[in-house]
Amino acid sequence: MALHCLVSAGGSPGVTTTALGLAMTWPSEVLLTECDPLGRRVLPGFMADKVRGPVGPGLLGLAMAAESGPHGRLPLEDYLVSIPGEGSVELLHGVRDPRHGVRLGALWGRLAEALTSRPGHVIADLGRIGGRDTPDALLRAAGTVVMVLKPTLTQVDVAGPRLDALRDLLGDRTAVGLCLITEGPYSAAEVERVLGTPVLAELPCSPADARVLSEGARPRRTFKTSLLLRSFKCLGRRIRATAGSLPTDIEDQGRDIPAAVGASVGGVR
Ligand SMILES: Nc1ncnc2c1ncn2[C@@H]1O[C@H](COP(=O)(O)OP(=O)(O)O)[C@@H](O)[C@H]1O
Ligand SMILES: [Mg+2]
Repeated sequence: MALHCLVSAGGSPGVTTTALGLAMTWPSEVLLTECDPLGRRVLPGFMADKVRGPVGPGLLGLAMAAESGPHGRLPLEDYLVSIPGEGSVELLHGVRDPRHGVRLGALWGRLAEALTSRPGHVIADLGRIGGRDTPDALLRAAGTVVMVLKPTLTQVDVAGPRLDALRDLLGDRTAVGLCLITEGPYSAAEVERVLGTPVLAELPCSPADARVLSEGARPRRTFKTSLLLRSFKCLGRRIRATAGSLPTDIEDQGRDIPAAVGASVGGVR
């Protein structure tokens, strides 16, 4: 099992949208977990008019079960829902009320254990990192940590110290890479150089297609073949290659996805 954590340095660059897009374009079974202590997004957004049955209490329910249950294995599977229309994507939906974020602190260690001992891949949306509520246990358990950001001065400025903190926390054993949402004046090569962290992929700034995922907006006819969706696939391939499960050069052959500028998967730290 491989855990891939998606994070931001703040400023809402599009972590949740990217995590959902990644999950929906993942080529095999995948679990999307909303672990942002500030609140959930997928249920009231993408899934709003797609949910038919009960969705259960999600992450908060799991945290309560962990508080009251024996200190053994977490009943993780009981708290997952399938994303309708996306047969192989399961969701652990996050907390609705950020005041409940404090109840999650004790859960992260056991959740990390449960996620990494499960077969298949997990994409975890951790939201903004760097605060006291950051789920460090999930970051430590991850094979890959991807920071989503826009290549602007303010985003690069806030990303720097948070990437330093990540490296202090994780050392060399976890790959850390960037995913750029290309709305900003700087090139991937410049961001990579300034932050000393490889760019795994660049996503286009496509507000209309992004809203399909973030708000549940009606997709345009071209959504399924859009550059945004193809770029999510590219990011997924880079992540799997980074995590060591697939050789990039074989997987990338014959694909129509633009490779990330300056991407250097082999050199990912
Ligand atoms: N690639 C993108 N292009 C354009 N807009 C995007 C993209 N990704 C996300 N967005 C938009 O940015 C806003 C914030 O997205 P969200 O995923 O909730 O950010 P975060 O999780 O970082 O707070 C949403 O309106 C979403 O539609
Ligand atoms: Mg979010």
